[in-house]
Amino acid sequence: MKNAPLKAAVLISGTGSNLKALIDAIGRGQLNLDIVQVVSNRPEAAGLGHARAAAIPFSVIDHTDYPDRQAHDAAVADVLQRAGAELVVLAGYMRILGEEFANKFAGRMINLHPSLLPLYKGLDTYDRALDAGDTETGASIHFVTAGLDSGPVITQIRIPILQGDDAATLKARLGPLEHELLVATVRLFCERKIHCTDSVVSFDGKEIEQPLQLKPGGSF
Ligand code: GAR
Repeated sequence: MKNAPLKAAVLISGTGSNLKALIDAIGRGQLNLDIVQVVSNRPEAAGLGHARAAAIPFSVIDHTDYPDRQAHDAAVADVLQRAGAELVVLAGYMRILGEEFANKFAGRMINLHPSLLPLYKGLDTYDRALDAGDTETGASIHFVTAGLDSGPVITQIRIPILQGDDAATLKARLGPLEHELLVATVRLFCERKIHCTDSVVSFDGKEIEQPLQLKPGGSF
């Protein structure tokens, strides 16, 4: 029997191209996912337009309206819980999360990050990979724990760094692949194939020792 659609909330801060990729994949029948809520911490986030266009409930919870991180996190958590989100997807949500928030959604909150974690947590990941003379870069999706871009890594995609690359060319090449990585990873959650217990990630019931690598064609 087919699983019920997985109920997800997507958190954004900006463009929302990854939110759009999820919406489009649902539209093509490629993802058994129900986006029950979109949250942005920035009122001007362009990505809110994607939620609006797809008639997905969305909330702006502006962090500058709250006295501290804990109060803002609590407001976001309240909206996610009311929406009945089973999976929380951080898709360009540029906020550090407090411990309480991370614990509340432990094992069911994932983040997309533009580096081969554990390398280059935080900002300017392309420039840092270039400055280090790396020969490849990529994107990672990990379970979220308290702290910046930390938690067990689930999946990755890699691209070579070519002669003459700069941050803009890397971003342009990696962007569409991030979309593929996010859709393929969320699909594993929809199929209930990924779990995390005590920081150990399992895929199809087996512990994974290395992050799953996305192959061309969209499989792991
Ligand atoms: C993506 O490149 C994602 O990897 C990055 O923000 C971008 C969001 O793009 N996330 C982080 O840097 C998290 N630390 P989008 O708004 O177009 O989806």
